[in-house]
Amino acid sequence: MLILGREPKLSLVELEALFGSENVKKVAPEIAFVETDSLNLEHLGGSIKAGKILEESVTDYLAKLPEGKITLGISDYSAKANKKSSWTLALKYKNLLKRHGRNVRLIPNNDGPVLSSAASHHNQLGEKLNHIEILKFNNHLAVSIGTQNITAYAKRDRERPARDAFVGMLPPKLAQILINIAVGEFKKENQDQKDLVVLDPFCGTGVVLQEATLMGYSAYGTDLSEKMISYSKKNMDWLTNRTPELQEKDAPKLYLEPGDATDHSWNLAKVNCIASEIYLGHPLSQAPSGIKLKEYQQSTKALLTSFLKNIGAQITSGATLCLATPAWLRPNGHYEGVNILDEIEKLGYNTLQYKHAASQDLLYYRDGQIVARKLLILRKQ
Ligand SMILES: C[S@@+](CC[C@H](N)C(=O)[O-])C[C@H]1O[C@@H](n2cnc3c(N)ncnc32)[C@H](O)[C@@H]1O
Repeated sequence: MLILGREPKLSLVELEALFGSENVKKVAPEIAFVETDSLNLEHLGGSIKAGKILEESVTDYLAKLPEGKITLGISDYSAKANKKSSWTLALKYKNLLKRHGRNVRLIPNNDGPVLSSAASHHNQLGEKLNHIEILKFNNHLAVSIGTQNITAYAKRDRERPARDAFVGMLPPKLAQILINIAVGEFKKENQDQKDLVVLDPFCGTGVVLQEATLMGYSAYGTDLSEKMISYSKKNMDWLTNRTPELQEKDAPKLYLEPGDATDHSWNLAKVNCIASEIYLGHPLSQAPSGIKLKEYQQSTKALLTSFLKNIGAQITSGATLCLATPAWLRPNGHYEGVNILDEIEKLGYNTLQYKHAASQDLLYYRDGQIVARKLLILRKQ
């Protein structure tokens, strides 16, 4: 059972790309069941909590816990659940465990029927012996195997030495989503490919490069600006210094060089997965007028088209791209991106389709944000 993040459609697409649509079942807007033996929550940008569905009753499961004190939390995601019903359930399990002579500390669900990811993470529920969180959705019960490590994300996001307010920075979770989609889709067609290299042709300060290497892939970054290449280098050195796995002999490799994505020749012998946030334009403080919007759309479309044409001539059939592109806030509260779908086939790509989300719904933004990111997921024909 996976509890999905703030943009559940993106989370579902990430899961579909990694595990196959047939293995991903959406049971509520923010909950999915996934059939898999290999799930690493640390590498899933779109999911907040993961649990293993219980095959036995909670009572039987709790009764078998190893000796020692038990820390217990309940998160009930059923539509009818409320703070009180969740707490009543928690007390029921506590009393039951007490009858078995067990010492239990309950984590209070202060804000409602579910524990916040901060509460679950800080209490190490699902991550430490006898630190248990029961995830409930209607009659489905699961035991948590962990919660997104919000502390680690915040550190990676805020402590990097080279930052640039103008370029803006991709949230690490979204970078993971882009990488998982590009790599997941590529692996579906090329199962035995090892030593994957993720290319970011608009690498900026290097968030995609950082997340790719932490996920075990080599990373290749290029950017028009020499300054950005030096920022990426500084950030990646910082990351390597504080990450022992990245210092090992067989650690993922990093390649960096300046280059204009519209005419650069990459050393692409091994690159088949492209994950990138393209140029989003100047930061805006208010929604653009109709005329300005057209201007932004045209220049973004020109950049995208030239880039796709250039890289299309250098990558092989089956290569996958997951690109974050700009979409601008309109007076009706919707976002409007660049309409490039008609050209995609002519440029030699197919748009990938998903069971749980239409391509126009793949948006990532915070409330009121002027420029949202819209995902474009392509495969080279
Ligand atoms: C939105 S930023 C990417 C930020 C990046 N995701 C990060 O983690 O910092 C877009 C980047 O595209 C670069 N850029 C703009 N036009 C480009 C082009 N034609 N070719 C390559 N890079 C370009 C800019 O220098 C900028 O660093």
